[in-house]
Amino acid sequence: MLNNKVILVTGGTGSFGKAFTKYVLTNYDPKKIIIYSRDEFKQFIMQNDFKKEFPDKFSKLRFFIGDVRDRERLTRAMEGVDYVIHAAALKQVPACEYNPAEAIKTNIHGAMNVIDAALDTGVKKVVALSTDKAVNPVNLYGGTKLVSDKLFIAANAYAGSKDINFSIVRYGNVAGSRGSVIPFFYDKIQKGEKDLPITDYRMTRFWISLQQGVELVIKALKDAKGGETFISKIPSFKITDLAEAMLPGCNKPEVGIREGEKLHEIMVTVEDSMTTYEYDKHFIVYPQMVFQERATVLPGGKKVPEGFSYSSGNNTEWLTVEEIRELLKTIDLEK
Ligand SMILES: NC(=O)c1ccc[n+]([C@@H]2O[C@H](COP(=O)([O-])OP(=O)(O)OC[C@H]3O[C@@H](n4cnc5c(N)ncnc54)[C@H](OP(=O)(O)O)[C@@H]3O)[C@@H](O)[C@H]2O)c1
Repeated sequence: MLNNKVILVTGGTGSFGKAFTKYVLTNYDPKKIIIYSRDEFKQFIMQNDFKKEFPDKFSKLRFFIGDVRDRERLTRAMEGVDYVIHAAALKQVPACEYNPAEAIKTNIHGAMNVIDAALDTGVKKVVALSTDKAVNPVNLYGGTKLVSDKLFIAANAYAGSKDINFSIVRYGNVAGSRGSVIPFFYDKIQKGEKDLPITDYRMTRFWISLQQGVELVIKALKDAKGGETFISKIPSFKITDLAEAMLPGCNKPEVGIREGEKLHEIMVTVEDSMTTYEYDKHFIVYPQMVFQERATVLPGGKKVPEGFSYSSGNNTEWLTVEEIRELLKTIDLEK
């Protein structure tokens, strides 16, 4: 379904954008992939890397400098585009906390601009990336992503008779991503330290790879009718087990939960459960507002029971220390 299509990825030079572009070039034959982001240097590096890795398909890539805060530029970039993946965001929690207005401009105004530009240009599908931090948010990053999610869901109502739909893919911290616990422990181990501090012994997280995130976005592109939030079913792990897997026998001092940190990552809340369906490999939270002829429940799903929630703390699938050790071998640490 991506063959011969024109795809635009906002934030295309980021971790997700590069992994998505690689996946699509490897598995499909798109007409064009447009990378839309601000920094020319990141685009230069990506161009060089992709020229080497995909010499035969490199001509399908286009690199557009642009800011999601700039609606005119987005509208120009989306002319002739079939699918948009919205991955551009300010996503570091402390940076968003310290620069709230900037986070609002990129994550909220940017989302509004992406929606308006897509509606005005004949785009067929838009998939926006969300995060577990948007669920019951405790920091501004999560707050801005919650608003962004709401905007994308409601955008289906503005679509009217236009052949376009908007959906969301939500996932948690990607294993090994910058600023997350794995590179933090890794740095300590490299320095020869024997203590791996644990903020709280009860702390759990989901394990998701970038590839799984990309595959869920492809699924959303294929299946979405409008307004759905797609969530992967993935295993959980205890942070204490992660420390043990990375440095067997290490000391694990408990240092206290940090401001804005949650004990468990939450993907589906009890409130969401009213409209959540479980599928083989994922959940879909359907919108509570009903959009005419949109967001029909996709086949193969079973409504979750009342009071259901899905968090890394109440998951039924858990990684053992040994399994974590094996998975660690497969990830690229972002520096
Ligand atoms: N990484 C994770 O663990 C994780 C987990 C859950 C959800 N997510 C979500 O997934 C999405 C992608 O994350 P990522 O890990 O790929 O982030 P990333 O590596 O930090 O990349 C962010 C991308 O957005 C671009 N960007 C930032 N501000 C922009 C603006 N104003 N206009 C246009 N482009 C802009 C950046 O390029 P320039 O700076 O050059 O513009 C870069 O290409 C985000 O929406 C994030 O919230 C990520």
